[in-house]
Amino acid sequence: MQFPRAFVVICSALFLCSTLTYGQQASPPAPIAMTPTPTPAPAPAPAPEYVNLTYLLSVAGPFHTFLNYLESTKLIDTFQNQANNTEQGITIFVPKDSSFKGLKKPSLSNLSDEQLKSLILFHALPKYYALSDFNELSTKDPVSTLAGGQYTLNFTDKSGTVHVDSGWSRTKVTSAVHSTDPVAIYEVDKVLLPEAIFGTDIPPMPAPAPAPTPDISPAADSKEGGSSSKALPSSSSCHRIVELSLSVWSQLVLAVFGGLVLLS
Ligand SMILES: *[C@@H]1O[C@H](CO)[C@@H](O)[C@H](O)[C@H]1NC(C)=O
Ligand SMILES: *[C@@H]1O[C@H](CO)[C@@H](O)[C@H](O)[C@H]1NC(C)=O
Ligand SMILES: *[C@@H]1O[C@H](CO)[C@@H](O)[C@H](O)[C@H]1NC(C)=O
Ligand SMILES: *[C@@H]1O[C@H](CO)[C@@H](O)[C@H](O)[C@H]1NC(C)=O
Repeated sequence: MQFPRAFVVICSALFLCSTLTYGQQASPPAPIAMTPTPTPAPAPAPAPEYVNLTYLLSVAGPFHTFLNYLESTKLIDTFQNQANNTEQGITIFVPKDSSFKGLKKPSLSNLSDEQLKSLILFHALPKYYALSDFNELSTKDPVSTLAGGQYTLNFTDKSGTVHVDSGWSRTKVTSAVHSTDPVAIYEVDKVLLPEAIFGTDIPPMPAPAPAPTPDISPAADSKEGGSSSKALPSSSSCHRIVELSLSVWSQLVLAVFGGLVLLS
């Protein structure tokens, strides 16, 4: 009589424990950050051939500054044409509005029309590259952009995180806005400034922050220098919560079990 009851109690405690920890494990919607897994999010519907860049850029981001430049320079047609070309495709690196705001040192305000066009074209490669392609692309420095000529970018793939280097701008791909052949749109932390416009006399980089701070400050990413502060805060901490609750629950189960043993 005693034994089956104890058994039932322990079983239900274990069940409770596992459902609770499972719930915790499943619940936190981790922010979509770059992970080493190369597979893009599967499209729910059969992918349509035509990707409307104007639409995509107007709903994601916010990328309004970049989209405004695309429209004011009429380069949106060049980009869309390249996106329509399913043989080649396009890869676009889009800085957020905050990155344009944070841009102080070389200003874009007095660039000539031609320079501005080149700067915008500099943010795209005339071919579709999935994130997993950048590993190979990093062996091909320097890589030509849509701006052609000396407007080149260097890439490195550091364990799944793609870093972009224009000389003036060292940044990384922070998320994939869209990545389905033939169109890839990746968000980057900084406006890419070409040496072909701003010269090779690059002011020294500010020293990188020594260690990532655990707490996320929402204001940090509007500053130009604070490139890496908006990193993934949650995955390790939620792991810790799960571990913590596991140990709490296992102690509880042990205590219940011990009490039953004492009683019987
Ligand atoms: C693309 O999207 C924009 C913004 O939503 C819209 O104004 C435009 O008509 C679309 N173009 C095509 C060809 O569907
Ligand atoms: C791209 O393709 C769409 C749909 O076929 C078409 O409406 C649009 O005019 C094309 N745009 C360019 C710039 O080629
Ligand atoms: C932009 O303006 C600054 C100061 O107003 C000037 O020193 C610089 O040469 C200008 N750059 C270009 C590309 O015209
Ligand atoms: C890009 O890589 C090439 C070849 O490794 C190198 O010569 C060049 O200086 C690099 N450019 C930048 C901006 O780092």
